[in-house]
Amino acid sequence: MDYAAINRAKEHFGKLLEAQMKRMEKVKTAPGWIDYSKLSPLKIGILAGDGIGVYIAAQSKRVLEFLLRDEVKSGRVVIDDIEGLTIENRAAHGCAVPADVMDEIKKYPVTLKGPTTTPRKGDPWPNIESCNVAVRKELDLFANVRPVRIPKQGIDWIFFRENTEDLYALGSNGIDVDADISIDFKLITAPGSDRICRLAFEHAKKNNRKRVTCVTKANVVKTTDGRFLENFYRIAKEYPGIEVDDWYIDIMTAKLVDEKRRRDFQVLVLPNLYGDILTDEAAEFQGGVGTAGSANIGKQYAMFEAIHGSAPRMVTEGRAQYADPCSMIRAAAMLLAHIGYTEIGKNLEMALDITGQYEKKMVITGRATGVTGEAFTDYVMDWVKNPKLKETWEGYVKA
Ligand code: IPM
Ligand code: MG
Repeated sequence: MDYAAINRAKEHFGKLLEAQMKRMEKVKTAPGWIDYSKLSPLKIGILAGDGIGVYIAAQSKRVLEFLLRDEVKSGRVVIDDIEGLTIENRAAHGCAVPADVMDEIKKYPVTLKGPTTTPRKGDPWPNIESCNVAVRKELDLFANVRPVRIPKQGIDWIFFRENTEDLYALGSNGIDVDADISIDFKLITAPGSDRICRLAFEHAKKNNRKRVTCVTKANVVKTTDGRFLENFYRIAKEYPGIEVDDWYIDIMTAKLVDEKRRRDFQVLVLPNLYGDILTDEAAEFQGGVGTAGSANIGKQYAMFEAIHGSAPRMVTEGRAQYADPCSMIRAAAMLLAHIGYTEIGKNLEMALDITGQYEKKMVITGRATGVTGEAFTDYVMDWVKNPKLKETWEGYVKA
């Protein structure tokens, strides 16, 4: 028996626990929700990312600048680029987010972020932590909110994915104990599950949704998922008017495909990794991950992004201009709603639905057989300006 290896592992584990206990103190004493209406100016940062991120971020920025033109002119809103989140710069610094870039990000209560390359073992890049994960942790963006709507099929889901814990919290802190054994750590905390469950219920309450569903694998992963589920039912008691149920992740992936059942789901709340997987599946029904936006919400910061990766191959193959900007423009619509421009956000959503889901005149294929991201964006902006926008959208939804 290699007791030296066991002791090294124990020591490693002890350090992780110390860090997590400190984090718990921070979470418990963190300031409350920021009030955007009191910020002047309200600063929005654009993080282009890398790969196709650069291309779709440029289009999304154009949309934001157009929709907020009056606010920008009056000085109420400022939209700036934040440089340095490219894989080249992150690799050169050997870290997920270089310190000066993180400092810059922290000056912006709201950011819109393009996809960034996440290296893995064996890639040409150093195996640094995902910068999404690092920013989510650093800004304590504990809720990953991902809506998937397919009006013509009666699907209107919103996923509340816990965003700072689970297998992600210590995903870069696992240990190779010896030549045979590797261990990663899954972490669920009471404050962490409480706040995500509460946000899901609050959303349901405010938006008149009748049902909140929790997804875990608590029959097998008893301790951590068990705690998440227990907390879910405890918080549920504070919302007596809302129906609740829970499903295991395996059967839930099946039920999302079940045309008899899928419409029943409304608000779903789940730990990080299950949320990661299930939201990709859900987005696929809506037209692919390229069509889905995502909000990373914390009490003091919020970051909006596409749910997909940076597709570096599209860049090396010279097709980046054909990348679908829809996901990031959807994220921009969520951003607008989140900071109080609800109406403008809705209009943008409608224009995206008409262009991408109904009319389908502007088809993006990711190559020269389809339109460019720029042409698609121009078209979406034309719809936003069109006085018949709402009427047309409603016509399509009712049809
Ligand atoms: C997402 C992405 C990220 C995640 C990756 C890029 C680390 O898949 O936002 O869903 O796993 O959270
Ligand atoms: Mg994902």
